[in-house]
Amino acid sequence: MTSPVLIIMGSVRANRLCPQITRWVAGIGRASTSLEYEIIDLTQWSLPMDDEPHIPAVGPYASALTQAWSDKVTNASAVVFVTPQYNWGYPAALKNAVDHLYREWHGKPVLIVTYGGHGGGKCAAQLKQVMDGVKAKSVTLMPGLELSDDIMRGAVLNSDVQFAAKVPIIADAFAQLASMIR
Ligand SMILES: Cc1cc2nc3c(=O)[nH]c(=O)nc-3n(C[C@H](O)[C@H](O)[C@H](O)COP(=O)(O)O)c2cc1C
Repeated sequence: MTSPVLIIMGSVRANRLCPQITRWVAGIGRASTSLEYEIIDLTQWSLPMDDEPHIPAVGPYASALTQAWSDKVTNASAVVFVTPQYNWGYPAALKNAVDHLYREWHGKPVLIVTYGGHGGGKCAAQLKQVMDGVKAKSVTLMPGLELSDDIMRGAVLNSDVQFAAKVPIIADAFAQLASMIR
């Protein structure tokens, strides 16, 4: 059996839209591939900013939680990031989770899905550059989901309605991800 694909949520803030959007994205993945998916909430992986005395590229890891995070990513067949754009970048909690590891990302097939007022393209470009740096293999398609002003101000989000036009590109991106899994 193939190892699960981790879908890592980029946002950890209170009242985030991320769980809802991630479930919607995961639904497209499940419908368009035969892969198994596991959603990862970084609030359940409270990786401190200052707990590792060695650089991850050298090791060893001091914290049992870092080792568990390492095992989690190592055992994944691929990773999908579903993340908002924050101030033209991606959330600090996501960078911290990436930076706790190094070799674990090498060769990992990765799909980046972003959202924001204009789809989060600047966030996607930054995260793609970081994934290149850790030698992951990114899907070339990076779907961006546009949030309307009223949704960013608290109106109820209906992903099926708001993001309907993005279903085909997300399905294509998942298909590309699946083709990269050995
Ligand atoms: C700290 C912060 C910075 C933001 N910066 C941007 C931005 O650069 N571009 C954008 O389109 N939206 C930006 N937004 C709006 C977010 O896209 C929107 O609030 C979204 O719901 C955040 O995802 P989350 O609710 O899952 O945390 C920002 C939101 C926050 C909280």
